[in-house]
Amino acid sequence: MLHIILLDCALELVPREISSLKQIQKHATRRGKKSSELLLDQTHHGQSMTKLSQSERRGRPDITFLSLMSILETPLCKEGLLSVHLHLQDGRIIEVRPDVRLPRNYDRFVGLMEQLLLKGRVPPQGDSLLHINEGSIEDLISKLKAGSDNAKTLLAVEGGKQTSIESLRNLLPQDPSVPVIVGVGAFPHGNLSDETVSMFGTHLELDSEVMMAWHVSAELLWIYSLNIGVVKIRYSAT
Ligand SMILES: C[S@@+](CC[C@H](N)C(=O)[O-])C[C@H]1O[C@@H](n2cnc3c(N)ncnc32)[C@H](O)[C@@H]1O
Repeated sequence: MLHIILLDCALELVPREISSLKQIQKHATRRGKKSSELLLDQTHHGQSMTKLSQSERRGRPDITFLSLMSILETPLCKEGLLSVHLHLQDGRIIEVRPDVRLPRNYDRFVGLMEQLLLKGRVPPQGDSLLHINEGSIEDLISKLKAGSDNAKTLLAVEGGKQTSIESLRNLLPQDPSVPVIVGVGAFPHGNLSDETVSMFGTHLELDSEVMMAWHVSAELLWIYSLNIGVVKIRYSAT
C-alpha cells in the first residue's frame, strides 16, 4: 500500500494577527464571510501576509488542491491501495478518505477546506470524508508502518539521493502488502524541519531542479502503480 503524506501544507485560516487588515476585510465582505473564516491565500492576501512570520511558506492552498487532484481517483486509489494525509504547518493532520470526490473547481475546494478547518470534519455530521486529527506525524508514520519490518519511508526532497525513474522502480517494492510511506512538501518555499526530515529513512531527489509537489506526488504514485501492476490486478478482477 502507498501512503502519501503531504507535508507542511500551506493550508490555514486567516490568522488573528492580520484578520482586521483592510485587504482581508474587503475580501471577507466580497465572500460574505468573517475574515477569520477565510482560507489564507497569497493571491488575495499577499500584501497583508508580509506581516506574518514565515510568510513565504504559507497561504498556498492551491498546492494541496493540485496534489490531491493528481493522486485521488487514480486506479491505485480506486483499488484501495492508496492513503492520503495532509500534515498542516501547526502539526495537525487531516485524514482524507480515499473514496472522497473533491470539487474540481478551486473556489469550491477553498469553501470545503474552510468548513473543514472551522468544524474539524467534513461533512459536519455523519461519516466523515475529511477530518482533522490531533496526533503527531511520528505517531502517524508508525501507524502506517502497521508493525511491518519491511515498511519503507521515503522523503522527496531537493538535495536527497539523485534518483532516476529506473532506480525509483528498483527501490519501490512489487508486493502491495509492503507499506510504502512517502512524504512530499506542500508549501511554496523554505525547507522542512530537521525533525520531519529525520522521520524518513530514504531521501530522494527526482530532478536536478525544484519540482512541483503535484508532479512529485504523481511520479511516485504512477511508478508505484506500475511496480505492483495495479492495472493488471484490476483487469484480472473483471
Ligand atoms: C515546491 S517544493 C517546496 C520547496 C522547498 N524548497 C523544498 O525543497 O522543500 C515542493 C516539494 O516537492 C518536492 N520536491 C521539489 N523538488 C524536488 C526534487 N527535485 N526532487 C524530489 N522532490 C522534490 C519536495 O518534497 C518539496 O518539499
